[in-house]
Amino acid sequence: MSAKIRIALLSETANLAYFAPLLQAALPGAEVAVWPDPGCLQAEVAVCWNTTPGLYAQMPNLKLIHSIAAGVDNVVAGQDLRGLPVCRVVDPDLAQGMVEYVLWAVLYFHRNLDRAVAQQKEHLWKRPPLKRAADFRVGVMGLGELGNKVATALSGFGYPVSGWARSPRELAGITTHAGSESLTAFLGQSDVLVNLLPLTDATRGILGKPVFDALPKGAAIVGCGRGEHLVEADLADALASGQLRGAVLDVFAQEPLPAGNPLWDMPGVVVTPHMATMAAPAVIVQQVTENIRRMQSSQPLRNAVDTARGY
Ligand code: NDP
Ligand code: OXD
Repeated sequence: MSAKIRIALLSETANLAYFAPLLQAALPGAEVAVWPDPGCLQAEVAVCWNTTPGLYAQMPNLKLIHSIAAGVDNVVAGQDLRGLPVCRVVDPDLAQGMVEYVLWAVLYFHRNLDRAVAQQKEHLWKRPPLKRAADFRVGVMGLGELGNKVATALSGFGYPVSGWARSPRELAGITTHAGSESLTAFLGQSDVLVNLLPLTDATRGILGKPVFDALPKGAAIVGCGRGEHLVEADLADALASGQLRGAVLDVFAQEPLPAGNPLWDMPGVVVTPHMATMAAPAVIVQQVTENIRRMQSSQPLRNAVDTARGY
């Protein structure tokens, strides 16, 4: 079915125009407008990343909000959702990209690459002690589409892996914890803590002093969820005191990370430009198109989030 449909590509920060020809090819006859074209306000479908707050309230025909990403936080923040469905992208290659990034980050700390890089700056030749993967404990916060696969892959690599989620679950080879009452026990077993939580009211600022203090002294963190999970001043303090050994950070409250942000030059911190993973444009277009067709034929949508829960 290719009924005429109006699609708005909405982003405050990214140029989503490259999706327009792809969507028109997949849905012949579709009208596609790119924000800030006022034609966007008449659209039935919003395809989004970092939507301008308050925009959906000005879109009377809106029936479907689709994130181009796995996360929906920046698509729902500051919006009147009025019961509209919000869908996201779930894709095995996107998950594989995250597995690779986190595996690299865990190896970076486990195999003391952080120390070797610091030593190189001082022309210092000093072999760090070798630790078996079996003696380096990994904690994964969030056991959803990404955290689940990351935890399983790391376990397959020989790391003792614990996972933490909101609701209880069983995962082969992983010690799982659920809910805030088990957070401290989970953290105490994490030599490196990987954050793969979605950003919600319950998780904002979770990477702060109480969590850092509950980690074993000298633990490291890997931040792949959202920048707003991190309390940057608490990270600076934890690194300065030696409570934390280092941090690999892929996401930031403000992206691009401003040139003057102290994280760029903070000893022990690796900054990467939100590059852990993303879905290919063709995959995003396929999933958006399929959901438009489903909406048009009153079938259940794929990968709809629970908007009350926020993920
Ligand atoms: P999912 O929604 O599939 O999984 C979320 C997980 O977090 C679930 O296990 C959920 O628990 C858990 N969770 C949510 N809230 C809480 C809470 N309050 N306490 C404990 N656990 C909680 O998300 P994905 O795995 O697909 O993605 C996770 C996030 O990764 C995205 O939201 C996005 O921010 C980020 N991301 C970053 C990328 C990057 O390049 N850096 C790329 C892609 C995604 P339960 O299972 O019990 O519901
Ligand atoms: C995502 C992201 O949520 O790229 O997919 O961060």
